Amino acid sequence: MLILDERLSLCASYVRESTALADVGTDHAYLPVWLALNKRIRSAVASDVRKGPLGNAEKNIKFYGVGDIVKTVLSDGLDSVSPDEADDIVIAGMGGELIVSIIDRTAWLFDKDKRLILQPMTRSNTLRKYLYENGFVTDKEEACVSGVKAYSVICCHYDGIVRKPTLEEEYLGSLALRNDAPTRKYASVLCAKLKNIRKGVYESSELYSEYTKLIEKLDDFVDAGGNEK
Ligand SMILES: C[S@@+](CC[C@H](N)C(=O)[O-])C[C@H]1O[C@@H](n2cnc3c(N)ncnc32)[C@H](O)[C@@H]1O
Repeated sequence: MLILDERLSLCASYVRESTALADVGTDHAYLPVWLALNKRIRSAVASDVRKGPLGNAEKNIKFYGVGDIVKTVLSDGLDSVSPDEADDIVIAGMGGELIVSIIDRTAWLFDKDKRLILQPMTRSNTLRKYLYENGFVTDKEEACVSGVKAYSVICCHYDGIVRKPTLEEEYLGSLALRNDAPTRKYASVLCAKLKNIRKGVYESSELYSEYTKLIEKLDDFVDAGGNEK
């Protein structure tokens, strides 16, 4: 039986029951294969821009016998996926800027009925800022730890309302500061990163104070956890 790691499990938990799924940058196709095996989706398009990863996907789809539900397509982003093939779209394991470019050129994602499940490996602040400023609202965001790294998964949809995010919203989004180990780890790594970024900011500026406020909030949150797991 296929077992997903924490990162892909969290993505899977945001996929709606019986949906038509697109998994962009699928590589091994573990996510759509797992969802198909567990009868959680009615169909899936597993897409990748490279033939090598798509070959891995095809092998796994065949091995697990889910070819009637999961099909593959060679596609840059969603360029070769049509809107009627996917209601829930997962874009996981890519940089935030690449995720932005994929969303931005796919007009049919700007639709309140489509759900986006996004898991950036880097630049999650750039991705969140784009979502706020381009009419996407976050329904849920949670952190997870896979291996030694902490990740955040964003579940959102288009509602057409343009928002101007605060610095805190750019870096934390809708991530609930819950008293659990993954959130604490995510906050701790983020806090260290923000301390580094702040070094390049003019000390008497408004921006510096905003960074300081956010760093203090994260420090307090991390300290309050003590040795909790
Ligand atoms: C690190 S893997 C992530 C695999 C899987 N989504 C996960 O999260 O475990 C990134 C995959 O994205 C693919 N990729 C990169 N740029 C892409 C693009 N513009 N469109 C589609 N796939 C892309 C790569 O070929 C690679 O297979």
